[in-house]
Amino acid sequence: MIKMTVNKTLRRLLLIALVLALGLVFSPMGNKILDAIALTTADPTANPTANSSTDSTYEQRSNHSPDGIGKFYMGREIAQVMGHLGAGWLERPSREREERPQQLINSLTLKPTDVVADIGAGTGYFSFRMATLVPKGKVLAVDVQPEMIEILDSLKREKKLENVEPVLGTITNPNLPAASVDLAIMVDAYHEFDHPREMMTAIAQALKPNGRVVLVEYRGENPLVPIKPLHKMTQRQAKKELASVGLTWLETKDFLPQQHIMIFGKKA
Ligand SMILES: C[S@@+](CC[C@H](N)C(=O)[O-])C[C@H]1O[C@@H](n2cnc3c(N)ncnc32)[C@H](O)[C@@H]1O
Repeated sequence: MIKMTVNKTLRRLLLIALVLALGLVFSPMGNKILDAIALTTADPTANPTANSSTDSTYEQRSNHSPDGIGKFYMGREIAQVMGHLGAGWLERPSREREERPQQLINSLTLKPTDVVADIGAGTGYFSFRMATLVPKGKVLAVDVQPEMIEILDSLKREKKLENVEPVLGTITNPNLPAASVDLAIMVDAYHEFDHPREMMTAIAQALKPNGRVVLVEYRGENPLVPIKPLHKMTQRQAKKELASVGLTWLETKDFLPQQHIMIFGKKA
């Protein structure tokens, strides 16, 4: 009798576990979580000690935001990666009004020969817009998700923009040649880098001597910006993190409705 009850309870528990697992796989949040898990574990170079960081660079905490990965860097929790299933959201028509992408790009004063690295390029929303301003240069559109690289490849063919080069990076390395980039830009991406120290060290090495790094992040100081806190950044935090890899803050442009445009250069 007792054995039968135990078997029944076990079967029930297994059924509940199966239902929960299926729910995780098929729900949008589940996809986001699974993408984040895949991105944090699949890369064999995902080693916190790579590129001169130490074990103490990052801290893992069990008590953390549901929007984060439980990994903290310089006091900030790293946000979950936006999975490729969110590609449609990046291309939403209301983005023109909400983020004014063309004004942002115009403010970068790109030269026709510039080499631009768009890191965390996603679908290339910014890469393709910038490409037309650097006809004698190019845009290296870097992302860690192969699905985003496929989207970039297909949009490149569709738009016939030969000077956009999709680049598959890893979570520690954007795979950019040394001293080759005039401007490295990250729009709404840096806060979700799994290894920000390693990424920014590599990006600084990829800059030409007078190269610039541009971080575009939702304003963390403003609670009215309708974005989850881990997907925003304060200027103070951004300056602290980039200074730690030898990048000096030069200027912040604050004319966009919701985002900071923070510009950094290499220390002389
Ligand atoms: C929220 S999307 C923004 C995409 C694009 N910048 C835009 O504004 O439309 C962030 C992108 O960063 C990418 N990403 C996250 N970590 C990365 C890393 N370490 N290196 C390169 N890309 C990364 C994600 O795969 C995702 O496509």
